[in-house]
Amino acid sequence: MSSWTWSFQVLLICFVLLSCAEYSKAGLTSTFIRQEWPSTDIPLDNKVFAVPTGPNAPKQVHITQGDYDGKAVIVSLVTTEIPGPSKVQYGKSEEQLHAEGTITNYTFYQYKSGYIHHCLVDGLEYDTKYYYKIGKGASARKFWFHTPPKIDPDAAYTFGIIGDLGQTYNSLSTLEHYMQSKGQAVLFLGDLCYADKYKKNDIGIRWDSWGRFAERSTAYQPWIWIVGNHEIDYRPELGEVLPFKNFIHRYATPFLASKSSDPVCYAIRRASAHIIVLSSYSPFVKYTPQWRWLREELTKVDREKTPWLIVLMHVPLYNSNEAYFMEGESMRVAFESWFVQYKVDFILSGHVHAYERSYRFSNIRYNVSAGDPYPVPDKSAPVYLTIGDGGNQEGLASGYRDPQPEYSAFREASYCHSTLEIMNRTHALYHWHRNYDGNKVTADSVMLLNQYWYVLSPVMVILL
Ligand SMILES: *[C@@H]1O[C@H](CO)[C@@H](O)[C@H](O)[C@H]1NC(C)=O
Ligand SMILES: *[C@@H]1O[C@H](CO)[C@@H](O)[C@H](O)[C@H]1NC(C)=O
Ligand SMILES: *[C@@H]1O[C@H](CO)[C@@H](O)[C@H](O)[C@H]1NC(C)=O
Ligand SMILES: [Fe+2]
Repeated sequence: MSSWTWSFQVLLICFVLLSCAEYSKAGLTSTFIRQEWPSTDIPLDNKVFAVPTGPNAPKQVHITQGDYDGKAVIVSLVTTEIPGPSKVQYGKSEEQLHAEGTITNYTFYQYKSGYIHHCLVDGLEYDTKYYYKIGKGASARKFWFHTPPKIDPDAAYTFGIIGDLGQTYNSLSTLEHYMQSKGQAVLFLGDLCYADKYKKNDIGIRWDSWGRFAERSTAYQPWIWIVGNHEIDYRPELGEVLPFKNFIHRYATPFLASKSSDPVCYAIRRASAHIIVLSSYSPFVKYTPQWRWLREELTKVDREKTPWLIVLMHVPLYNSNEAYFMEGESMRVAFESWFVQYKVDFILSGHVHAYERSYRFSNIRYNVSAGDPYPVPDKSAPVYLTIGDGGNQEGLASGYRDPQPEYSAFREASYCHSTLEIMNRTHALYHWHRNYDGNKVTADSVMLLNQYWYVLSPVMVILL
C-alpha cells in the first residue's frame, strides 16, 4: 500500500469516526416524563416582581448589544414618576463617564406606559468589566456587565439560549438555572412575557411585571432579542393594530448597525459568532425588506473572522412536534437554500414548548413540478435546535409525531434552557439543560463542528 493510500485511509477513518458525532444515529424520543408545576403566572404581589423603591427609581433594567461588533450596549429602563434625566454613568472602576439616552412613552388601549429610556453606551473596550449607575440619590441603582472579547476566529464565548419564557414558577426555575451557568449573553428566541393572554390594560401591566422579573439577568448581560407571536399584539378590538407595539417601545435593538430598516430583523457579531435575527412574523417572501436585507447580510459574513454563523427565528423550520407542525414551511421555502449555500452552523428557534435537535438535513431539491419531496441528509445544512420551553403559562407540548422523522435526532417535552460554548473556530459544545423538578439536569449534549473550518478537503469529498 502506498503511503498516500495509507494516509488517505487514516483520514477516511478519522472522518467516519468524527462524523458519527453528528450523524447516523437513529433519532431518540425521550421517555422522560416530568412532573409539572402548574403553568400559571406568578401573582403580581410576589417578590419576584418587587418594584424598586425611591423617588423615580429606575425599573425594568435591561441591556442588549448596541452596535455591530460588541463595543456598545444599549441600557434600557423605565421610570414612572417623571421623565427625568436619562443618564447612564459608567466606567471600569468608578462610574466617571456618562451617556445620555432618549425617552419614549406610549399607550396600549387605556394603559399608559412609564417613561422608557434607551441609552447607547458606546466606545467601550473589549473583554472588560464595566460598572454602571442609573437614577439619582437614594433611588440610584448600580449594575455591571462584561463586554465580549474582540472579534476573532478563535474567541471563546458562551451563549445562553432561552425561548418562550413567560412569568410562571417554571419560568423562574429556568431563569435561575441559566444564571448558574457560564452563559455570557442570552440568545432569546421570542415570546417574552405572554402578556397578550391578559385582557385590556392588564396586557401593559404584565409587560411591566416581566421587565422586573427578568431584570435579575437582563441588567447584567445582554439579551439578544427576537420576536415571537406573543409580541405581535394585534388587538383591533382594543384599537391596537400596530404589530409589536409593546415590544418595540420597550426593547431596543441595534438594527441600524446592520443596515436593516426593521427593529425586529438585524444582525450582530460577537466574539467568534455572526448572529442573524429574523422575524417569523414580518414579510419575508421574495423582494420584501427582510428578504432583501438577509440576502445582503449573508454576503457580509466573513467566516475567516467570525467562523460561527447562527440564525435565530421564532418558528422552527424542522419540527416534529404536533404543536405548530409545519408553521415554518413558508419561511423554509423562502430561505433554506441560502442557509445551505452559506453553510449556516445552527438555526435556533422557540415557539414549540418542547425541545428538539435535528441532524443536518435539507429539503431544497423539491419544487411543485418535480424533485425529491423528502428531507435528505445534507452535510452543508444547519443543525436545527428548537428550545421553546422556558416555562410559560401555556404549558408543555408533549405530543410528538410518530414515527420520529429521520431528521430528528433528539426530542423531549420539558422546561429548559441551553448553553452554546464556543471553544474555538472548529468546536462548540452544546448542552441542553432540563429543569428536573426544580434541579438542573443536562439531558442532551453534543459537540458541534464548524461548517466552514471543520471541512473536508475537496479531494476527500470527491473520493468519498
Ligand atoms: C407621554 O408623557 C407626557 C408627559 O408626561 C404626556 O403628556 C403624554 O401624554 C404621554 N404620551 C403618551 C402617548 O402616553
Ligand atoms: C424543479 O426540480 C426539477 C428536478 O429536480 C429540476 O430539474 C427543475 O429545474 C426544478 N425547477 C425549478 C424551477 O427549480
Ligand atoms: C478546538 O478545541 C478543540 C476541543 O478543545 C480541540 O480539540 C481542537 O484542536 C481545537 N481546534 C483549534 C483549531 O484550536
Ligand atoms: Fe410562540
